[in-house]
Amino acid sequence: MRKDRRRVLRQAGSAMVALTLVRPAVAGGADRDSDVDVHIELRAARDQVAVRPGRPTEVWRYKGKLLKGEAGSLQPSDSYLGPVIRLRRGQRVRIELINELPEPTIIHWHGLHVPDDMDGHPRHAIGPGQRYVYAFRVLNRAGTYWYHAHPHGRTGHQVYHGLAGLLLVSDEEEAALRLPGGDQDMPLVIQDRTFDDDNQFVYPAAGHGMGASMMSRGGGGRGMGSMMASMMGVLGDRILVNGRQVQALDVDRRARRLRLLNGSNTRTYKLAWNDGSPLTVIGTDGGLLAAPAHRKFLVLGPAERADIWTDFANWKEGESPSLQSLPFEGGMTMGSGPLPDGSQFPVLQFRIVGSGPVEPARLPDRLAQLPPVQASVAINAEHPKVFDLTMGMMVWGINGRPFEMLQATAQETVKLGTHEVWEFRNEGRNSMMGMVMAHSMHIHGLQFRVIGREIADRFAAAYRTVQPGLMDEGWKDTVLVMPGERVRVLVGFEDYPGLFLYHCHMLEHEDSGLMRNYLVKA
Ligand code: C2O
Ligand code: CU
Repeated sequence: MRKDRRRVLRQAGSAMVALTLVRPAVAGGADRDSDVDVHIELRAARDQVAVRPGRPTEVWRYKGKLLKGEAGSLQPSDSYLGPVIRLRRGQRVRIELINELPEPTIIHWHGLHVPDDMDGHPRHAIGPGQRYVYAFRVLNRAGTYWYHAHPHGRTGHQVYHGLAGLLLVSDEEEAALRLPGGDQDMPLVIQDRTFDDDNQFVYPAAGHGMGASMMSRGGGGRGMGSMMASMMGVLGDRILVNGRQVQALDVDRRARRLRLLNGSNTRTYKLAWNDGSPLTVIGTDGGLLAAPAHRKFLVLGPAERADIWTDFANWKEGESPSLQSLPFEGGMTMGSGPLPDGSQFPVLQFRIVGSGPVEPARLPDRLAQLPPVQASVAINAEHPKVFDLTMGMMVWGINGRPFEMLQATAQETVKLGTHEVWEFRNEGRNSMMGMVMAHSMHIHGLQFRVIGREIADRFAAAYRTVQPGLMDEGWKDTVLVMPGERVRVLVGFEDYPGLFLYHCHMLEHEDSGLMRNYLVKA
């Protein structure tokens, strides 16, 4: 602890604001390298990256350095995304964030079950030149998690400019299945971006909550356009995969695990194979399902993940299967901007190379042990806590109130060691001109189960075009709540007391108020 503090002082220099003192979260302390299995340094800094042909793009990105253990290569990726961090369940990890940006930032480990001061709540944001030391034990199941910036009012801006990366956890249960590994295990981060004529990102939202100086200094445009972008969300007009504009990916005729992350700020995708082949889903946000599930198309809201098992032997050499995003029908409002919701567009094209004989790949029909979903364990099973997703006076909110960073009165209080049923209602209460958009609701610090959905009559017709593509199975940390819908989830508060967040993961909605604290009381 002492040592940490001295290091903070030394690195911070004289121009520092408040010191961030970090309580080690690993039993027995994590002050020394001998106490941890993996030690990583992540610097958040400006950089230039060739995202697409032509001039390099100015980005903000995480640069990693491995100081101890193994955690994947941590090589600077050839895109703006942060390094892929590979961890094993049970490992003790120490990660140091160094802020070399011109404004405050903090990292949230999306999906990880960690103590509250390790979770990247915006109240822990650090100023330029400061360092935040994370130390925690990996308690999560094997799965596709991720990390990204989370300063209040600037999350959309920072993530759009590149501050995000994947964090993959493995465990023994997963290893025993012998799923496709090595280069057959392909993480695919799907994002949309708009570029100007000079190849630079265009991010139109103004951002909220950081004060006028911040807004005029840098990121956002102003005026009506940026107001609308802040309200509706930002949609780009180009699709990037793993931080690059990809033409086609060459694959041979073997089975692959495609780990899809929707890392877009606001865009929801309705993914399908162009030839109508079903998608085989083996995992969701919190890891593997009990058994593979099949979908004609898959609706993936911002921050949701889907692990897709695909046997490319189903296609012949020279064929080009592609993942498309299908249009949203029935006038559903999913965002605005170019590449409108009404269009169908390619997300990623593959090209089958090599004709050699391929052994038929087999996917086990039992994948993982999942506890049954029993709403009766909740202390409020009959009377769920209701969260109305609201909009008033050009700010989003929950139950009519926009985000309050520390306000004790705005917090939801729950008891450590209990389960509750929470219900998100997206019925356009207080909304401007009756506008209702989908919201991608994320709860920090835990994984939950979806226990039910209910749609209001007037939205039912449009909903039927989406409903077959929703994946509610397995552990989730983010759930899409469609216009007119009520979604119930079963949430358990285990191990860690403290202050956590839940919010819409459409980052412009989050930045403009659709976020709230919950307090877990010991
Ligand atoms: Cu991935 Cu609070 O967010
Ligand atoms: Cu939202």
